[in-house]
Amino acid sequence: MIKNITIILGDGIGPEVTKQSINVLNAVARRFRHNFHYNYGLMGADAIDKTGNPLPDETLQLCLKSDAILFGAIGHPKYDNDPSAKVRPEQGLLKLRKELELFANIRPVATYPALHHLSPLKTDRLQDVDFVIFRELTGGIYFGAKHLSEDKTQASDDCIYSKGEIERVSHLAFQQAQKRRKHLTLVDKANVLETSRLWRSVVQEIAPQYPDVRVDYMFVDNAAMQIIINPKQFDVVLTENMFGDIISDEASVLSGSLGLLPSASVGTKLALFEPIHGSYPQAAGKDIANPIGSILSAAMMLDYFEMHEEAALVRQAVEWTIENGFVTKDIDPSNFYFTTTIGEMISDFISSTSQQEQVNPGHVQLRKSTII
Ligand code: IPM
Ligand code: MG
Repeated sequence: MIKNITIILGDGIGPEVTKQSINVLNAVARRFRHNFHYNYGLMGADAIDKTGNPLPDETLQLCLKSDAILFGAIGHPKYDNDPSAKVRPEQGLLKLRKELELFANIRPVATYPALHHLSPLKTDRLQDVDFVIFRELTGGIYFGAKHLSEDKTQASDDCIYSKGEIERVSHLAFQQAQKRRKHLTLVDKANVLETSRLWRSVVQEIAPQYPDVRVDYMFVDNAAMQIIINPKQFDVVLTENMFGDIISDEASVLSGSLGLLPSASVGTKLALFEPIHGSYPQAAGKDIANPIGSILSAAMMLDYFEMHEEAALVRQAVEWTIENGFVTKDIDPSNFYFTTTIGEMISDFISSTSQQEQVNPGHVQLRKSTII
């Protein structure tokens, strides 16, 4: 199969983790005889530095011509503490989401038994945690009118949702629930917000089309607590843009490291895949960032291309590294492997033709020399 993939390396650790995903995709292409063509576009602080624009038009055009986008990370500290900055890296990503109508952000949350000790939660709470968050991505308070009064003493951000916006992401979430444990939780604040009441009524209207899916409703403050005290109760979580942003970062701590989690943003035209972590500028260029979030995002891209066997092999390779202790510094600060080494191991695992070769103790010993 031939696929055109736009690569946006982005800021901070974005380039180094994305390069490992490209190596992994190349290993998949060789093994399964696919042709992946990459085109590179600029976005974020990197794009502002080079062009003055967080999303240059060339990048948008490139994305529109491609089958999917693989994106690294966005953000730079020089903008974070400057609320008066007129141009911000994040504007690039928000504009891309809006222009490409990437209306659903899908964030799976899984835990690895080998990493349970890293989570702030007790092991018994982590067993069997396996849920997926469907976050609406192109509406709500992120995209409503913004206002700052002349004297700069009052500000507002409008939160607006239309029935159609709620319906399209809800259908995707219900369909996913049907393929999983058939349980959907709508997270909202319907006791206070009009938009949340609209979400509830739309979801209640849609629910009868999916009679096999059990639906429940949870206020977001309670959901924030339930994710910590009883995360295994969730299967598919459906929510609006800002609640989804917050609870997905919260949920990521269950896995032990923010560096492990992938995401897909799907829309009407194409899809974008990115790790959920940020640009982590303190680690940039040091070869210590965790490439797994990006590599699992590439696996989600393979699933999107209907390359399910390929995606499963990538996930198997990732699990193999974690279970054998081949992990980056965020996971084991005293005995860690470099970003590039983990990427190579995963690519080698994919290229190997037999399980025997994949777990060759000789290879493992050789890699050990990379420990610092
Ligand atoms: C995310 C990020 C973005 C968001 C930022 C970088 C604009 O936090 O993808 O979750 O808030 O959506
Ligand atoms: Mg976020």
